[in-house]
Amino acid sequence: MPEEEKHLDTLLTENRTFTPSEAFKARANVNDPNIYERAAADPEAYWAEEAKNITWFRPYNKILKWDPPHAEWFVGGKLNAAYNCVDRHREGSRKNKAALIWEGEPGDSQVLTYDMLGREVDKAAHMLSNLGVKKGDRVAVYLPMIPELPISLLACAKLGAIHTVVFGGFSSKSLQERIVDADAKLVITADAGWRGGKPLPLKANADEAVAGTSVEHVLVVDRVGEQAKAEKNPDRDVSWHELIAKQPSTPFPAEEMDTEDVLYLLYTSGTTGKPKGVTHTTGGYMVGVNNSMRTVFDLKDEDVFFCTADIGWVTGHTYIVYGPLSAGATTVMYEGAPNYPDRDRFWDIVEKYGVTTFYTAPTSIRTFMKWGPEYVEKHNLDSLRLLGTVGEPINPEAWMWFHKYIGKEKAPIVDTWWQTETGCAMIAPLPGITATKPGSATKPVPGISVDVVDHDGHSVEPGNGGSLVITKPWPSMLRTIWGDDERFRNTYFGDFPGIYLPGDGAHKDEDNYVWILGRMDDVINVSGHRIGTAEVESALVSHSSVAESAVIGRSHEVKGQAITAFVTLKEGVTSGDEIIKELKQVVVNQIGAIARPEELVLTNELPKTRSAKIMRRLLRDIAEGRDIGNTTTLADPSVVESLQAAFKR
Ligand code: PRX
Repeated sequence: MPEEEKHLDTLLTENRTFTPSEAFKARANVNDPNIYERAAADPEAYWAEEAKNITWFRPYNKILKWDPPHAEWFVGGKLNAAYNCVDRHREGSRKNKAALIWEGEPGDSQVLTYDMLGREVDKAAHMLSNLGVKKGDRVAVYLPMIPELPISLLACAKLGAIHTVVFGGFSSKSLQERIVDADAKLVITADAGWRGGKPLPLKANADEAVAGTSVEHVLVVDRVGEQAKAEKNPDRDVSWHELIAKQPSTPFPAEEMDTEDVLYLLYTSGTTGKPKGVTHTTGGYMVGVNNSMRTVFDLKDEDVFFCTADIGWVTGHTYIVYGPLSAGATTVMYEGAPNYPDRDRFWDIVEKYGVTTFYTAPTSIRTFMKWGPEYVEKHNLDSLRLLGTVGEPINPEAWMWFHKYIGKEKAPIVDTWWQTETGCAMIAPLPGITATKPGSATKPVPGISVDVVDHDGHSVEPGNGGSLVITKPWPSMLRTIWGDDERFRNTYFGDFPGIYLPGDGAHKDEDNYVWILGRMDDVINVSGHRIGTAEVESALVSHSSVAESAVIGRSHEVKGQAITAFVTLKEGVTSGDEIIKELKQVVVNQIGAIARPEELVLTNELPKTRSAKIMRRLLRDIAEGRDIGNTTTLADPSVVESLQAAFKR
């Protein structure tokens, strides 16, 4: 067995705990374990103390108004998120400090100091305002990972508009659904972005998406130029570059936002077909994300923070834009693929900019493992002092690899459990206090109360599993689902009144550490991205040849889960590779490449109970090659054998 494999093999049973080093502990922002008790004794007082790190234009008069399931935090307070992320740092010693370091995929780069970023945000806010965008309007942002992306978000925040970012990998149809649901007035996009050395077109999708909607203007950034060939619609399109050059250089006054004014919407998948517009408001979100930087990420003024997520997801919102900037840090963003031009791109960035804190997803770590340590070893990673993971449970092998090859057995790892809905990390170690166990996100952060409960909502004993719940309101929690408060109430608070249900299963060990087991609903976690089975199924059945479909997530070595679709065709349709290809493409066209099924299995029948419910669990067993036990509840037990044969093929 090669040395590396032997190493990994011994780790499969890894059950050591890793305590922070004395050196790390001594310098940590938080190193007094009493913080947990103090926060638990009076969470509101804890959060009020934390709210002092945010600049308020007008002080709040009540910490929390909790009318379950509706929370208002820092009631009566006025503030502006962009002011907190940019302007307040311009006024002080951070004026000329690097706020944003941007690395483009082809090798171009840009560094914006807080002062420079402030000027860009002001110009962009003038520009949006001149395009008729006002406080409370929705702006859809469909951009690649270029500086104009965070600048757009901050400009919206500065004038009080609500941004809704749509990940560039989503299709025109997905973009349109979000534009319509949010009733957006403006779309900001680019001709294309760079990914893996090729232009990834965006403008063409945006054109399709805005047809027939309320969108008045499409503001277009020229990123790729010649090779992207985006068509121009003279009545609707405006050029970012042309327009921004005409804006005054005067500061744009920060809109005084109420603490509960909406900062952004971010759509995420749920159990039914329609994505949910998770709604975050200003005051609580800013307090939460700012706290998270200081406690979970131990952020210091000299830190250089590199989160590898795309700003199209919540991780990018919180840990590329609002968190690091509100804390006055230097945040690094990278446009493209991790293997372009070679597999050492991230490590090259770490070395080039002296990154101190590196935050990524387990799926990426498993990819680095596959590529091998030689790409890491080409670079000096001495600057790294803290590592983080997010998005899915991390397998101990990946944790140990990260610890050994990236953290050089020195840097603590914070495995952070959270969701689009929670705004920032809820369960995570405090790196100067918590002993970590590979594979566990450990314990709730101070000020957050979680539990694992059984069907009746009773706390399970240590050593048992159940549903994860968050038992008390917290500042950065979602406030509703845009336009559908009833769905908000039913989805998250329908099971146990006043108790938030994230939809994850979890296990509590003898030390009360939480081990996340994964989603309990029909949501698949592909490479740390949430995709609803219902969304994929409805894309498939929209095809005229499809009679019925069932979609499941099966475990996958690198992606965590992969999408497997089972499809029955209408009578008379010829089955074969052609139709399989076509159907996969339908999903790509309707949702985006991230939802492309890994396998699509054609079958004459789907396994159903006698009451005609599709047995998804059985499909998962088939896809994962498990023995199928008792099938007597099936209407037609012979379906199993034919499916197993079809899956093997
Ligand atoms: O199942 C959990 C998983 O990702 C879901 C949230 O997905 P999303 O809203 O897209 O946000 C992802 C980034 C915050 C959760 O319900 N998840 C997230 N972090 C972890 C995790 N599962 C296990 N461990 C984690 N650290």
